[in-house]
Amino acid sequence: MLFSRRTLLTGAAAAFALPGFASTTDAAPLRTIPSTGAKLPAIGLGSWITFNVGTDPVLLESCAKVIAAFVEDGGGMIDSSPMYGSSQDTIGYGLEKLGYPETVFATDKVWTSTADHGPAQITESRAAWGVEAFDLLQVHNLVSWEAHLETLFGMKDDGRLAHVGLTTSHGRRHRLLERVMRDYPVDTVQLTYNLADREAEDRLLPLAREKGIAVIANRPFRRGALPRALKGRPLPDVAQELGADNWPQLLLKFIISHPALPVAIPATTKVAHMRENKAAATGPLPDADMRRRIIAHFRDL
Ligand SMILES: NC(=O)c1ccc[n+]([C@@H]2O[C@H](COP(=O)([O-])OP(=O)(O)OC[C@H]3O[C@@H](n4cnc5c(N)ncnc54)[C@H](OP(=O)(O)O)[C@@H]3O)[C@@H](O)[C@H]2O)c1
Repeated sequence: MLFSRRTLLTGAAAAFALPGFASTTDAAPLRTIPSTGAKLPAIGLGSWITFNVGTDPVLLESCAKVIAAFVEDGGGMIDSSPMYGSSQDTIGYGLEKLGYPETVFATDKVWTSTADHGPAQITESRAAWGVEAFDLLQVHNLVSWEAHLETLFGMKDDGRLAHVGLTTSHGRRHRLLERVMRDYPVDTVQLTYNLADREAEDRLLPLAREKGIAVIANRPFRRGALPRALKGRPLPDVAQELGADNWPQLLLKFIISHPALPVAIPATTKVAHMRENKAAATGPLPDADMRRRIIAHFRDL
């Protein structure tokens, strides 16, 4: 999608009336950002730690292969932050090799407690990615959120940014996040949601639905702890009905089947895992009863 590649915009939402985007994703369900109508696949790609590989050419090449496989498989949201070491540069390296594919939804963050530094940091992030603009910029962990939201909404008004969001994780600062979601016209909210971390179900996910705010689920695997802990444990019967061959796929199907329709952004260093994760969006997703059965099975393990 790369908003950045589109220089003839008359309005931010225009960038997302992209004929053909849906056809690149086969049967995988697309998510819609309610405020703009932008569509993107339900499984994206995170970059914290996994893409922080510095300048090591072997590791850079390996990450580039993950990005290439992600794009070949329909593309979608790639999420990064100035907080993630060299991850932005790694993404830039991978995207340049691919000629900046249109199906990437370039997502980054502002993360500085010096409010005035926000614009300069965004410029640095764009340079690292090698793009002219982002599809989505988020205030990372609500740091200096008032000043950064002002910057981001200003960019959106000027047509230099399509979407504005906020992030949190690990269940932190949910009360403040709720207040900002109520009071500001943000397009997206990113928070931790997975089978083991379900606090967001109480208030934030229903509020996102009510306000038409798209949800991005970070830490879908609790940074790998969930697949590690569940390896070798029996899958619930419902997994077979859903065509989930393994726990990572069932974990992702659980997340993206929430009625708030989140985009999940698992991070990985491995092409095989990336493909496995993407495949979680194909085939049936659990309905409310199946979701209850998955929760009950997980609790009983
Ligand atoms: N405050 C914030 O804004 C915030 C906070 C946290 C995270 N995030 C975003 O959310 C993204 C995801 O969260 P995360 O990076 O903490 O962790 P995660 O996606 O929950 O877990 C990543 C780990 O899971 C493993 N994994 C991935 N696919 C797998 C599979 N199919 N089978 C088995 N293991 C698999 C990876 O190992 P392998 O390399 O071996 O596959 C990696 O170690 C971040 O990268 C970041 O973009 C944002």
